[in-house]
Amino acid sequence: MTTTSSSTAPDNAAPDNAADSPPRLEVSGLTVTFGGLTALDDVSFTVADGETVALIGPNGAGKTTVFNAVCGLVRTRRGRIRVGGAPAPSSATGLLGAGVSRTLQGLGLFDHLTVLENVLVPLTSVRPGSGTSADVVQEVLGTLGLGGLAGAPAGTLPYPERKRVALARALVTRPRLLLLDEPAGGLGAADIDQLAQTVRTVSDGGCAVLLVEHHVDFVMDVADRVVVLDFGHVIACGTPDEVRRDPAVEEAYLGVPVDGARVEPAETREQRA
Ligand SMILES: Nc1ncnc2c1ncn2[C@@H]1O[C@H](COP(=O)(O)OP(=O)(O)O)[C@@H](O)[C@H]1O
Ligand SMILES: [Mg+2]
Repeated sequence: MTTTSSSTAPDNAAPDNAADSPPRLEVSGLTVTFGGLTALDDVSFTVADGETVALIGPNGAGKTTVFNAVCGLVRTRRGRIRVGGAPAPSSATGLLGAGVSRTLQGLGLFDHLTVLENVLVPLTSVRPGSGTSADVVQEVLGTLGLGGLAGAPAGTLPYPERKRVALARALVTRPRLLLLDEPAGGLGAADIDQLAQTVRTVSDGGCAVLLVEHHVDFVMDVADRVVVLDFGHVIACGTPDEVRRDPAVEEAYLGVPVDGARVEPAETREQRA
């Protein structure tokens, strides 16, 4: 919506930051309210190109609301969101044009469409007839083990495959910022390992990844940094090791030793997908 504001350079543009390039995603002072409820209160964090940041926290902490704010789906009361140094677009096509794609907590697949048709949806909405699309689509489907399922109606597939279709759909646009809402939710160990490998590959390719996830082992495995939300506030931010040693995090969220390799109990409270 808003176009680049080249004339309004931030007055305190961090001199020690050697800012060669802006973060891929910058969330700064983000505040979102729903009626009387403050879902997010002064939330700030960044995700750099090639970096994977995990957003964790109990249910209702505001994780999905962060995603929705980045995608322009909820109104921001205060704060700013920038993608690649420019104000985040708020339309679906604007976001795709800015290299942003996301997976939804509820997958959002078209069950009656085939795997291939589902995966093509974002491509048809952004640049019809793009010459490279077919190759990219084949490559992404192959990488995710969906090559043989291209013609299958998405609704007929088991849940792990459906999740991979949703991921494929997010990847075919070759995003520079990928938002994953609970990508490991509902998956078994083998599928989670494969997912972690996919996230690493995407990240190694330079994509910035922001993921919301309950599965602690997966988070500790793939994240470069972890941002912990509680009641709409950032209560901790750091490397997985730093965060797992933070007493406030344990109290607010983890409850069990992170090394215990357990899916924390909050997940069972969130069954609205
Ligand atoms: N569209 C909405 N309208 C009203 N309240 C909402 C809406 N979306 C989220 N909320 C509330 O905002 C808070 C944060 O929700 P959410 O971002 O979904 O949390 P999380 O993803 O961390 O579980 C919760 O209290 C939730 O009930
Ligand atoms: Mg959520």
